[in-house]
Amino acid sequence: MSDWDKSGWRNKPRVQMPDYTDEAALGAAEAQLSKYPPLVFAGESRRLKDKLAAVSRGEAFLLQGGDCAESFEEFSADNLRDTFKVFLQMAMVLTFGAKVPVVKVGRVAGQMAKPRSAPTETVEGVELPSYRGDIINGFDFTPEARIPDPNRMLQAYTQAAASLNLLRAFSTGGFADMHRVHAWTLGFTDAEDAARYRDIANRIQDTIDFMAAAGITGATTHEFSTVDYYTSHEALLLEYEEALCRLDSTSGRWLAGSGHMIWIGDRTRQPDGAHVEFCRGVQNPIGLKCGPSMTTGHLKALMAKLNPDNEPGRLTLIARFGAGTVGEHLPRLIRAVREEGASVVWSCDPMHGNTIKSASGYKTRPFESVLREVQEFFDIHNAEGTTPGGVHFEMTGQDVTECTGGVRAVTDENLSDRYHTACDPRLNASQALELAFLIAEELIERRTPRRAAAV
Ligand code: PEP
Ligand code: CO
Repeated sequence: MSDWDKSGWRNKPRVQMPDYTDEAALGAAEAQLSKYPPLVFAGESRRLKDKLAAVSRGEAFLLQGGDCAESFEEFSADNLRDTFKVFLQMAMVLTFGAKVPVVKVGRVAGQMAKPRSAPTETVEGVELPSYRGDIINGFDFTPEARIPDPNRMLQAYTQAAASLNLLRAFSTGGFADMHRVHAWTLGFTDAEDAARYRDIANRIQDTIDFMAAAGITGATTHEFSTVDYYTSHEALLLEYEEALCRLDSTSGRWLAGSGHMIWIGDRTRQPDGAHVEFCRGVQNPIGLKCGPSMTTGHLKALMAKLNPDNEPGRLTLIARFGAGTVGEHLPRLIRAVREEGASVVWSCDPMHGNTIKSASGYKTRPFESVLREVQEFFDIHNAEGTTPGGVHFEMTGQDVTECTGGVRAVTDENLSDRYHTACDPRLNASQALELAFLIAEELIERRTPRRAAAV
């Protein structure tokens, strides 16, 4: 792209980014990061783009999920393993429901910068700058912690590199073997309260047994024992993104080396703003959050900027409107895409439009609203004849109490028990897997009438 360079965003209006006060420290951190190896390789991002192109044609389904914000404090092998484990379980259940391959993309290894609804927060009369994610400043409510510190970018890079290293090992080293993954899933459905999901779990077991009898096992078949797992995060902190941006010698195009897929948040998607400027020039698959204020005009301008060649798999539109309001917003955006003849992946983030304040004061999300938004998203795509390509969740493998509901019901009163998120409330392991079962049921049901009609 001849009219683009990796620092061009600096000349555009920026929002939601920190004002670093120590220029020298910022320059030194950027210089250091620029010398480090990229975290991902361009060929991997291109492969993900091909898979997303298959999603846009309805030949695959996208599962994207992980922490709202990864933190330095919660970073551990156990946490990574547990989230990866429930993610694989969800992917298996969704594969069974969707009857197409599931493209697996974590919110991980770089998801550390957060847009905030207000620049400051006030606690008991004390006003301080908002926490913006561990890559920018500290969570502690002290004036020192809230000063943006550029050296945090180096720690974030180290954490992302170590996370990716372990996840790559898990993906290919036997951990992701389908038999193991299903054995964990059976553990969930064995419990009294999750009995209604046993039917699907048993049908998956039958399928695995049948394939084993036919000689298809982890020992004989690569697809059975390994997974392709990709990383993604919001490209919010552009100093970090620029420092990890690399020219790919194979294609001669630029790559955001910070993760396989990056996305633009609902608050930073101004067509002439800094974030869109950076993302338009890199070859990675790009996600674009679409909230209630997205107009058809915005969307058309953004598609023209971010995917001028209409490359399949390049652009994933992540709808996040809130349960009960999808019908008000999604149809106009579907129409805009149709009018432009654009190729996109449609994904549903049922988290960010469903955040409420509980009676106990915690930010939470009711499980029922999350499910309802996904159902509305499917319904509208059905009615419009377009493809609901995937889902996007904030979730963790830990047994936290941050979202309410689910079969192992978390109530308002429980929220204080294990509320660990550094930012938004996440589905816990049980809620995340339950949601995958419910979506699988939906997908199966939605297929059945069509099949019946065809007979
Ligand atoms: C997020 O995904 O964590 C986020 C902040 O989303 P949005 O930009 O859709 O509000
Ligand atoms: Co969030």
